[in-house]
Amino acid sequence: MRYVTFALSFSPHLLEDVEAALAMGGFVHWSVPLELDAEDEPQPDVPAHTTGRIDLHAPVIEAEEAARGMEVALSRLPVTILRSEQDEEDWAEGWKQYWKVQRLGSRIVVRPTWEHYQAQPGDLVLDLDPRQAFGTGTHATTRLALALLEEHLQEGEAVYDVGCGTGLLALAALKLGASRAWGVDNDSVAVETALENLARNGEDARFEAERADVPLPRPADVVVANILADVLIGMADALVATTGRVLILSGIIRRRIPDVEAAFVVRGLVRLGNSVEDDWEALIMGWPEPRGS
Ligand SMILES: C[S@@+](CC[C@H](N)C(=O)[O-])C[C@H]1O[C@@H](n2cnc3c(N)ncnc32)[C@H](O)[C@@H]1O
Repeated sequence: MRYVTFALSFSPHLLEDVEAALAMGGFVHWSVPLELDAEDEPQPDVPAHTTGRIDLHAPVIEAEEAARGMEVALSRLPVTILRSEQDEEDWAEGWKQYWKVQRLGSRIVVRPTWEHYQAQPGDLVLDLDPRQAFGTGTHATTRLALALLEEHLQEGEAVYDVGCGTGLLALAALKLGASRAWGVDNDSVAVETALENLARNGEDARFEAERADVPLPRPADVVVANILADVLIGMADALVATTGRVLILSGIIRRRIPDVEAAFVVRGLVRLGNSVEDDWEALIMGWPEPRGS
């Protein structure tokens, strides 16, 4: 099959507006992989013409509709849309060259299924094929969520991965000692990919995933959600309702932290900590008293 890639170019400080417009236009559902590798606030030493870039990938059959929808979604923003077409194989193979075995935190190692890795003592190796889903560990927001998960997860807890993408965080949680995990994503390809990845790592019996736009009630001790600030705020009621002990929120540009934090504080959670990488920040929030006490 031939695929179309839309490369969006824009000034780095517009990154979150562009992401939000795409999310509002429904593009998060099919547009992975997203390479959100732009800086947020303009820096004095960065020339004004520096551009951020997001690559959206879609089958040609959906491309005309996608292009029209994207123009509408981005109409109020100064964004240049460049379109190119390629064979699926070229796209997949080209992309694979750039993703290698990667150590995340102290124990997790992510291994692309096509790469060889000789595990070291203590390594927790995750074998992943992301297909077209988000979540390889190459993006800061995934690493930030994982760092908080590694620090705060307690042995035997149940974990809910909201916006699970490839399932990397759910899989990492199980390898780090969780007793079971659930995943949810509004993209059915992501759900299929997460199920495949968890099965590939022998964890299918302890993992379930489904497609939905909001987190469903699950008896989770730990909820982890790596999505955009506005999406997290929009699903705050559902996230809080299903949080048994702690909630990890990632995907947040630093200047949006006060908005996100406030949305969860007003619902009764307190801030327990954070992690930061470049312009991205993740929060961990929890109940002031253990629930039920
Ligand atoms: C940034 S990716 C995170 C993937 C993975 N959990 C990670 O940390 O790398 C966000 C994921 O959230 C999903 N998503 C976006 N909006 C959603 C919604 N309203 N409900 C469920 N999933 C959503 C996207 O499809 C995408 O897979």
